[in-house]
Amino acid sequence: MIPRHSTNESVSYTGQTSKGIKQSQERMNSKWKMLLLTSFALLLMLIKHRSRIKNHLEKIDLCWENEKELRLSDWFNPKKRPDVKTTTDWFAPIIWEGTYNRQVLEKYYKRLNITIGLAVFATGKFVDQYLEKFLQSANKHFMTGYNVIFYILMDDFSKLPPIELGPLRTFKLCTVLKQHVWKDFNYIYMKNLDTYIIEHIQHEVDFLFSMTVNQIFKNDFGVETLGESVAQLHAWWYFRHAENFPYERRPKSAAFIPFGEGDFYYQSAVFGGTPREVLAFIKEYQKGVTSDNRNGLKSIYEHYLNKYLFINKPTKLLSPEYNWDPNFRTPPQIKHVKIAWHSKSI
Ligand SMILES: *[C@@H]1O[C@H](CO)[C@@H](O)[C@H](O)[C@H]1NC(C)=O
Repeated sequence: MIPRHSTNESVSYTGQTSKGIKQSQERMNSKWKMLLLTSFALLLMLIKHRSRIKNHLEKIDLCWENEKELRLSDWFNPKKRPDVKTTTDWFAPIIWEGTYNRQVLEKYYKRLNITIGLAVFATGKFVDQYLEKFLQSANKHFMTGYNVIFYILMDDFSKLPPIELGPLRTFKLCTVLKQHVWKDFNYIYMKNLDTYIIEHIQHEVDFLFSMTVNQIFKNDFGVETLGESVAQLHAWWYFRHAENFPYERRPKSAAFIPFGEGDFYYQSAVFGGTPREVLAFIKEYQKGVTSDNRNGLKSIYEHYLNKYLFINKPTKLLSPEYNWDPNFRTPPQIKHVKIAWHSKSI
């Protein structure tokens, strides 16, 4: 593109003769041409660069759009259930049938391609009685349409029932390790769950639920239940006065909640959240047990859970519809039972 003579010019140029002046004019001309060409090239580059930046920004914008946090008001309408408490004092939603818009939630979570874990502790007499029903019903109703991993913590794999799972569902067997000093089965479960979350579960799932095996799913337990820290309201105590809640009342215990305090009575059969939050609870629970042991006290797992959730308020609460006791007379507020909890087996 650059004229040939212009490159030779600078070499042949020697002095200010008339020929020299002409040469220098030509040289100036070609310099202008070069400058023009360079400017043009620069301009082209700039335009290209700008459009690349613009594309990039648009892409960032799109990602932002995709991963934008859902606002509560996008999918949750507390006014739909005036007959019950739908929001806590700390503004966490209480999920009742009718309060949530599952379509909006589905649209959001489907795009994120999330995986949800469900850990269940299956040892002792509950295995024969419930594990098969628990897994079959969970396969059908737990987070249908999403990637699900069932973590089955067992000490005797020969008791594993035949498991047929639908698409997007897998299960992993986790051996329950015991030490004879651990007397409480909840303590053994939590010790093991802690290890498995750290080892692999935290890298495999976005959300994790821990459930006892003596439950049968009756209806969809879907993405409306997902949150950072998810607590289950206890079917027996939701309709009772707070003064009667069976909290740990001994002041020396780590699980102590004084009379007149406490928000709800939570059910330990269902607890969930992000793996990090579940881990945080397990650590606190272990600390509580250790401290009580030192003081010669022993409280129950559910009391530690209630104390933890009293201090660390859950970000989402599930109505007793999510864990109803079928032995109870069902009040009109319980519209859609998601899980039937079989208390008789305890
Ligand atoms: C969604 O997640 C699953 C499980 O982690 C993975 O196997 C699959 O490839 C993912 N799909 C897409 C489209 O990213």
